[in-house]
Amino acid sequence: MIITIDGPAGVGKTTISLAVAEKMRVAYLDSGAMFRGLALALGSGSWNWPENRLLEAMEGFCFSLNGVGGASSLLLNNRPLSEAIRSETIGVWASNLGRIPLIRDKLKKAQQDLGRERDLLAEGRDMGTVIFPEADYKFFLEADPAQRAKRRWLQLRAMSVQADLAELVKDMRLRDKQDRTRSIAPLLPAREAYILDTTSMTQKEVIEAIMARMA
Ligand code: DC
Repeated sequence: MIITIDGPAGVGKTTISLAVAEKMRVAYLDSGAMFRGLALALGSGSWNWPENRLLEAMEGFCFSLNGVGGASSLLLNNRPLSEAIRSETIGVWASNLGRIPLIRDKLKKAQQDLGRERDLLAEGRDMGTVIFPEADYKFFLEADPAQRAKRRWLQLRAMSVQADLAELVKDMRLRDKQDRTRSIAPLLPAREAYILDTTSMTQKEVIEAIMARMA
């Protein structure tokens, strides 16, 4: 079984996806964490590297996924990804890398391989459109930008990551625009996706709506 949950930054995808994966007893794949992990490992400006340098660097990376539901663990070169990938700066770097066809191709293969080996809930931007077009259930979460910035700020604060709300709004706006308008695999709902506007819904209500759809 493959379930996809796509949507913009700060919409609450991670918390909701983890809860749904736990209830469904399937592995949870955070595809954004793959882009973030690469961004942190390659460093600032890597999105401007010549193709052969990027290609060579990518040969050194291997992703694996262990466990199910809340105990799912994504590994990069056999090591868990560090909390440092969660900052909004790394989010912007990840979005910059996400515009590069070579990076998307490599991650697409890695993501599809992980989905071939197990039942999976995959969360990201293009899971329902490009990576798993044959998924059994597809969801797309939306929420208004002010609400998303606030949710993201609260999430970062809970992880003790310093963030300035005004900076966060600016970075998220940039990231959203870039993710929605890039030429390959832009953020958009799959034709068959069930779209949920979560602006005035609690997390519990969103999880219940998703579970009801799959009952
Ligand atoms: O979901 P996230 O905020 O952790 O994602 C970080 C960035 O990674 C996002 O702004 C764009 C990129 N990304 C992507 O291009 N495709 C995905 N499937 C997931 C993330």
